[in-house]
Amino acid sequence: MGTSQKHSCSEETVGVSTSTIQPFLKWPGGKRWIAPKLALCIKECLRSTYYEPFLGGGSVFFVLRPQRAVLSDVNGDLVNTYVQVRDHHEEVITLLKELPASREEYYRIRNEEPDNAVERAVRFLYLNRTAFGGIYRLNKDGKFNVPFGGGDRTPEILWRNKLLKKASIALRSANLRPGDFESLLRLAKPGDVVFCDPTYTVSHENNSFRRYNEKNFSWEDQKRLVRSATLAADRGVAVMVTNAYHKCIKELYAPHSPMILNRMSCVSPKVQGRRLVRECVFALGPWPRRWRRHFR
Ligand SMILES: C[S@@+](CC[C@H](N)C(=O)[O-])C[C@H]1O[C@@H](n2cnc3c(N)ncnc32)[C@H](O)[C@@H]1O
Repeated sequence: MGTSQKHSCSEETVGVSTSTIQPFLKWPGGKRWIAPKLALCIKECLRSTYYEPFLGGGSVFFVLRPQRAVLSDVNGDLVNTYVQVRDHHEEVITLLKELPASREEYYRIRNEEPDNAVERAVRFLYLNRTAFGGIYRLNKDGKFNVPFGGGDRTPEILWRNKLLKKASIALRSANLRPGDFESLLRLAKPGDVVFCDPTYTVSHENNSFRRYNEKNFSWEDQKRLVRSATLAADRGVAVMVTNAYHKCIKELYAPHSPMILNRMSCVSPKVQGRRLVRECVFALGPWPRRWRRHFR
């Protein structure tokens, strides 16, 4: 199954906390729905450092709670938000509480570009909780352009449910850095696990391309990811990659055969608007032979 069996994983797990935390960000393509199963699988192989190069909302990190983690994302504002939540969550909450969740306030904040790192994180969290559908979208100039969400969207859950405080504790074990995935995959060593949840380039089971970042994750990026994951796996690193269920993705990862996951799409809140979507999980490197059992 893996490309390398040089350091096969033991059943012994090291440095993983048992208490799960709810992610503080709502993030497109987030793996909240499958994070407990992915974390169970990862836990079996993790003997040293956990790497997550496509951090987003960090669903798997917050279930796994590893003792040592390196977390990264190409979105510098997102990484800054994690750093400020880890190091200054009380200040962040105090500033957030001052901001009413109103249309007027939303557009005022959307138009601002604070220099201060804590204020940038406050803006990021406020927009994440009050934007339409919790969508993150930048225009071609790199400016956030999602309209106001309205309804009962508010950042209040961040302090009412102590999401930032709990995240701040969990993140003490994390080295956070902005950047491209490739440099992170290069750092991993045998005994480490790398979980990759990239932006999906192809939509599920059709040929249309999607974009929700200022720089689209291109087909070249997908090829770069397979190459880096394979190189890491050949060094004895356990690498897990999720992706859309699509013929061209399966061909890209051949000879690795994916575990196929089913989920109901949450694009529309209406029951009729939901549809079954399939996704893939690939495991490269020294995973236990029976890794798929966690997904049944
Ligand atoms: C599907 S989301 C990850 C969701 C996350 N697993 C969760 O559960 O919330 C993909 C993330 O990859 C990031 N990304 C896109 N291109 C990247 C690149 N070249 N290197 C690193 N991160 C990238 C995006 O900014 C986005 O946050």
